[in-house]
Amino acid sequence: MDWRTIGSAAVTAAGGPDPRAALVDRLRSAYAATDALLTDSGTTALRLALQIAAGAGGTVAMPAWGCFDLVSAAVGAGVRLSFYDVDPQTLAADDASLAAAAVGAQAIVMVHPFGLPAPIQRFRDLAAEHGARLIEDAAMAGGGQYGDKALGSFGDLSVLSFGRGKGIGGGGGGALLARGSFANSLREVRAGVAASSSRAAEWRAVLGVVAHRVLAHPYAYGIPRRIPMLHLGETRYHQPGDVRGISAAAARLALAGVIGAAAAAEPRRAAAAAMIAKLVRADGLIAVGPAVRDDWGALRLPVLDRQRRESPRHVGVWPSYPRALPSLPAAQAIRLDARPTPGAELLATALRTVPTHAAVTERDREAIVQWYSRGAVHGVEHQLAFGATSNG
Ligand SMILES: Cc1ncc(COP(=O)(O)O)c(C=O)c1O
Repeated sequence: MDWRTIGSAAVTAAGGPDPRAALVDRLRSAYAATDALLTDSGTTALRLALQIAAGAGGTVAMPAWGCFDLVSAAVGAGVRLSFYDVDPQTLAADDASLAAAAVGAQAIVMVHPFGLPAPIQRFRDLAAEHGARLIEDAAMAGGGQYGDKALGSFGDLSVLSFGRGKGIGGGGGGALLARGSFANSLREVRAGVAASSSRAAEWRAVLGVVAHRVLAHPYAYGIPRRIPMLHLGETRYHQPGDVRGISAAAARLALAGVIGAAAAAEPRRAAAAAMIAKLVRADGLIAVGPAVRDDWGALRLPVLDRQRRESPRHVGVWPSYPRALPSLPAAQAIRLDARPTPGAELLATALRTVPTHAAVTERDREAIVQWYSRGAVHGVEHQLAFGATSNG
């Protein structure tokens, strides 16, 4: 996010023109949507999507690994969950597990992890077969494409996030996009969305992007660790809160973000490709997903650490979502079955992510490889047999 856009968001926060109607128009055209509802977060947008598609007490098929907010949204919507496993080599749905989870579901959630496009046609076919609604959670898909369309254009209902590090905006907020007759349902839930009118929410959006710009720089990687209350790079479960709309300042940032999302993904993809090329020298570290592709959002580069070493956060490498979603206490209360999810469990302990943003230099990538090529020094306890644990 450039300083000029941040400046115009500050003007909005101070009472300048309201960009929300323009954002709705832009989302409708950029994501082939009939209508769009702006929310205070991607989690709220997903919660409303689940409410519309499955309703309280309804059944939703959901990936067993990912952002904990998936569960929070489900709890907020009052739905029950049937988890499908995730293939640790590709981060795509495990086919057999997905097919089993879809039976009896009113809605199926499809996620594009780190902007890697999910097998969209497979999900569409499955939803059609079971008469289920397809919810596309594109919260992590900013800047990704599938064919000639942006990720976020493919569900009956699609969810976007404008939160920190999501590739669009960064000041918080989200959107629920509806296509065809689902636009009528959007109108119905709109009345239940409280306005975001507080000054504090406006300035939080602006200060959030300023802080992120500063802390994302490699020289500042150590800072978040020294300010634990920021909880940066951590994954925590949040109880569902109020259902609110987006602040005007966050909408201003999101508007600029939507316009520039595809172009912003290009250097991230190049940074990911440059890192992948170096991984041959990193001991036991492999890229997941199709190695180099020209259509993904590349929010961060997901890599598997075969040796499950402590993540070298000082060089920007973070552990990813540290638990399989079915194991969260909040999920256990609403989980319908006990389908095994070994892929998700493996990802929870072995997945790491490498930054791909503009401030990462060739020297930083070299530092990452160096750290991992000294892997043995860092206390390798056990080797994993990946082939044996994936896909159950
Ligand atoms: C797949 C997915 N869905 C939903 C969310 C929630 O978005 P937000 O942070 O805007 O609430 C996230 C956040 O990381 C996510 O990764």
